[in-house]
Amino acid sequence: MKFFIDTANLAQIKEAHDMGVLDGVTTNPSLMAKEGITGQENVINHYKAICEITDGDVSAEVIATTFDEIIVEGEALAKLHPKIVVKVPMIKDGIKAIKYFTSKGIKTNCTLVFSAGQALLAAKAGATYVSPFVGRLDDISTDGIALIEEIATIYANYGYTTQILAASVRHPMHIVQCATVGADVITAPLSAIAALLKHPLTDSGLTQFLADHAKAAGKQ
Ligand code: E4P
Repeated sequence: MKFFIDTANLAQIKEAHDMGVLDGVTTNPSLMAKEGITGQENVINHYKAICEITDGDVSAEVIATTFDEIIVEGEALAKLHPKIVVKVPMIKDGIKAIKYFTSKGIKTNCTLVFSAGQALLAAKAGATYVSPFVGRLDDISTDGIALIEEIATIYANYGYTTQILAASVRHPMHIVQCATVGADVITAPLSAIAALLKHPLTDSGLTQFLADHAKAAGKQ
């Protein structure tokens, strides 16, 4: 399973990359705004800077919501760097645009997916990635992980090559659950990825090993 980091923060992207486990980056307009990235030139430079850090795909989301405008914006984003994946919302014009981008060899990420039917449409349009939002479904008392499992079954039934990119992943158990039910990729904040490291028995075991080593070394 691939690990993407879900942020536009360059320091956090670098930290995840330096851990050696980063396979790509996803951003969205809210994450870009959080970093204060506004204005066409700043946005372009920021996407290029992200592409310089990671070895993998970088999702850059369009703001446009009509077919013609999505095409213009998406083609401009795709030209920025070969790692750019054009992130398109799950709307009628978005699906049409994904079909167009696929025919031109431009990678896409169909975002804001909350049902298996939407994921089926994204696959039929040829999306490179589909992004079901696990955490936001959990937030409204539904089962985000069950949706990932349902999509995995549907895609396996028909051999769809669209990769399931579990998004809105909020904590380490979401990551483990996504791996269990067959997500191809998770995108999560650095805190959730780093939390996978933690176990109290690891900490106490290491403390004991180092103490025993120091005691034995002191006796020599
Ligand atoms: C998906 O690509 C989105 O950027 C993201 O995962 C949304 O996460 P949130 O629900 O925590 O905002």
